[in-house]
Amino acid sequence: MEATVRKEGAAISAATNAGKLHFVTDSGQQMLMQGDCMEVMERLPAESVDLIFADPPYFLSNGGMTCKSGRMVKVDKGAWDRSQGPEANHEFNLAWLKACQRVLTPNGSIFVSGTRHAIFSVGYAMQQLGYKVLNDIAWFKVNPPPNLSCRYFTHATETIIWAARDLQSKHYFDYPLMKEENGGKQMKSLWSIKPPYKSEKRFGKHPTQKPVALLSRIIRAASRPGDLVLDPFNGSGTTGVVATALDRSYVGVELDKKYLDLSAKRLQDPQGDLDAMARS
Ligand SMILES: C[S@@+](CC[C@H](N)C(=O)[O-])C[C@H]1O[C@@H](n2cnc3c(N)ncnc32)[C@H](O)[C@@H]1O
Repeated sequence: MEATVRKEGAAISAATNAGKLHFVTDSGQQMLMQGDCMEVMERLPAESVDLIFADPPYFLSNGGMTCKSGRMVKVDKGAWDRSQGPEANHEFNLAWLKACQRVLTPNGSIFVSGTRHAIFSVGYAMQQLGYKVLNDIAWFKVNPPPNLSCRYFTHATETIIWAARDLQSKHYFDYPLMKEENGGKQMKSLWSIKPPYKSEKRFGKHPTQKPVALLSRIIRAASRPGDLVLDPFNGSGTTGVVATALDRSYVGVELDKKYLDLSAKRLQDPQGDLDAMARS
């Protein structure tokens, strides 16, 4: 079986024997694939993707504690989030970033979000691979959970690295739109964005679900309607829901079927996400 996502006349085909085709929207412009993102990306044509958002494993589910709804709980986001040690984690980051670089168009760009556990490795891997780093954005999480140990500052930010495919890339940036949204002043690399609203979790939760407001800013800043957006770590499908709402094509790749089921529900019935986008 073969699925096709069209991008302004150009056919983007993904042979589904690299991963399982899980869901395609009625328009045929958005699809979800089950499998390892590196294997799936290998089957995508080179230079076919305009924008990538990646929220890779944080490697922080290693027995530490955190605070959830006022209670002390173990950090355990899933087997996919266990650290294999710094060298193996870095090899993993190098491998998937290399696969992303192959599928990006010459002027395409990538945003990668993460915390101190993985983001320095991601930044170093990008430099090793010859990406052009454009910005390191600090996402200020407006209501972070308190730090229970009282031995650290409260963790209130996540870093988002924006990079173009290579040093020659002429990346796309909707500067006027970002300026307009910032009251006529240049948009800074410090973004205050609230966690997901309840309506974004109406079909169930993902432990590291990103807010639609964050993806809305990224996709509008760095892509045009009709562009193809890829998320190699699809999770609950936030990138796909926003890409669809903004008239972009989308390919999402995810290992876990339960998160693909959740993503398909959000894509089929997006009202709760559209409401959240309108509020932010
Ligand atoms: C940090 S979460 C992404 C959350 C997502 N941004 C959202 O808004 O819901 C990472 C996801 O990547 C998936 N994953 C981990 N390794 C993967 C791989 N090699 N290929 C595809 N998916 C993978 C995990 O199952 C997890 O759902």
